Amino acid sequence: ELGRILFLPGDGIGPEVMEEVRRVIGWLDRRQMGFEVHEDSVGGAAYEKYGTPLADDTLAKALEIGTVMFGAVGAAQYDTLPFHLKPEQGLLRLRKELGLFANLRPAMVFPALAEASTLKTELVEGLDIMILRELTGGVYFGEPRGIEELPDGQKRGIDTQVYTTFEIERIARVGFELARKRGNKVTSVEKANVMHTGILWRETVKRLHEAEYQDVELSHMYADNCAMQLIRAPKQFDVIVTDNLFGDLLSDAAAMATGSLGMLPSAALGAPDADGRRKGMYEPVHGSAPDIAGQGIANPLATLLSFAMMLRYSFDLDEEADRLDAAIGRVLDKGLRTGDIMQPGMTKVSTSEMGTAVLKE
Ligand code: NAI
Ligand code: MG
Repeated sequence: ELGRILFLPGDGIGPEVMEEVRRVIGWLDRRQMGFEVHEDSVGGAAYEKYGTPLADDTLAKALEIGTVMFGAVGAAQYDTLPFHLKPEQGLLRLRKELGLFANLRPAMVFPALAEASTLKTELVEGLDIMILRELTGGVYFGEPRGIEELPDGQKRGIDTQVYTTFEIERIARVGFELARKRGNKVTSVEKANVMHTGILWRETVKRLHEAEYQDVELSHMYADNCAMQLIRAPKQFDVIVTDNLFGDLLSDAAAMATGSLGMLPSAALGAPDADGRRKGMYEPVHGSAPDIAGQGIANPLATLLSFAMMLRYSFDLDEEADRLDAAIGRVLDKGLRTGDIMQPGMTKVSTSEMGTAVLKE
């Protein structure tokens, strides 16, 4: 039975880096691990073709196929469009409609790139942590929200942080399951010292741990301390599970510790359906990089690493995912670098040369 994937390359360097995933899929095909690849447009490309950043028909395909490989969206010429037609709305709508509540943001540092980190080499060498961010709840969606006029002429902006036990439990569960496949350690992050959602978060994670995941090591940390610890000693963590807002900030902080945007993959997962399969969307953390688009010099590794996550989390092909991760490590060990990760004495390669080297390894 073939795995089915919907390709949404998008704008800028999106199509260029996605092409290298297509080549890896071709390699797997020749070894009887075939995938049925469908393709459609998203973002600015979809606006040109369909007049909207995500056509209903494209969304229907994404829902039906359930596994999406996403490139990147956005370009300056769309900045003046009305809000609902902006390329980014295509991405947000996909996340929402697919019910992708769990955002997996690994921060890892290949040994060959440890020196490129903004932190001291020894702090990040071999770093491999996973930040798990709740993606569909919290202060970005809580009601009431808005800006009101006050009688005295002032205005008041309101956002509300809301979490239910159901939402906390389902993200914590993903965290424990991930930890069992990794370093078996979960750090749950909130601010239970000043927030009620934080108190409920901590209670709920504790209860689930006691009931079902006592084999996993669990600790709790305040979000501000976590931000410090990520810069001071990031290797102390394995899986960090946290809410939407803290996850947004902490995953960006951890990303900088790794030192290269072109190397960071991500995944967003939904709830398991009747036969245990989760919907999933996989994408590099970087954007459409309009400054280098069309030149064939973009780093395809973040997207290839995202595809490795797809193999792991959507198709249970852990061995193939490991092989792809390891091949990327060896290519870096051999000194091949795209411009964004170039270091003195290394060999500068193009997008497709990097893809070819990964295939060889
Ligand atoms: P960006 O990530 O596109 O680029 C930031 C810098 O990193 C640029 O100098 C770019 O050349 C470089 N860079 C990024 N990815 C690279 C790669 N794979 N290889 C080599 N260099 C790479 O972020 P920026 O410039 O803030 O945004 C550009 C556009 O992308 C905007 O329209 C923005 O809205 C959109 N965007 C889309 C995202 C998505 O689709 N998920 C995420 C972030 C931004
Ligand atoms: Mg962010």
